[in-house]
Amino acid sequence: MHLTLRVNGTVRQAEIASDDSLLTVLRDSLDLTGTKYGCGEGQCGACTVRVDGQAIRSCRQNASLLQGRTITTIEALENQVSGAIVQGLGGALFEGIDFENGRLVNGRFSEYRVPRFADVPPIEVVLIDRRDLPPAGAGETPIVGIAPAIGNAIFDATGVHLRSLPMVPQGLPPSTSQV
Ligand code: FES
Repeated sequence: MHLTLRVNGTVRQAEIASDDSLLTVLRDSLDLTGTKYGCGEGQCGACTVRVDGQAIRSCRQNASLLQGRTITTIEALENQVSGAIVQGLGGALFEGIDFENGRLVNGRFSEYRVPRFADVPPIEVVLIDRRDLPPAGAGETPIVGIAPAIGNAIFDATGVHLRSLPMVPQGLPPSTSQV
């Protein structure tokens, strides 16, 4: 049978057998292997995903019953972390609200520097499953390390400490880039 799902915000389609589990469809048909096979009996939670916002064990869920439903897998978390890193990069390097004589002078996005595709390096997200710690968020939590990391990289490359944000709203100062 033909199955259509919305997975992590994208419409995905697959040809499935009527008895395929959602876990099988995610891993084998949609190549979303972040969802793991553990016990296969609904006990361990390794296969947990969200269906319309509700956490379920995908190993015990018949996929054919989910036509048109919204599925969220662990890969969505990677997207959240990547987005947070790009957002942190903008705040660290460029983004700043400018005033002149008490008036806002860059109140439009055409005047407000945000990260562009060319600014973003390849990002590899590594999720560490620390079940001994309570959840600490993911959507914006990764932002906190970005500015220090960039500041340290600039220091390593130039010998100059840039200690206020944004660090380089107009690009690196010539005296810095020549060091
Ligand atoms: S694989 Fe263990 S609960 Fe699904």
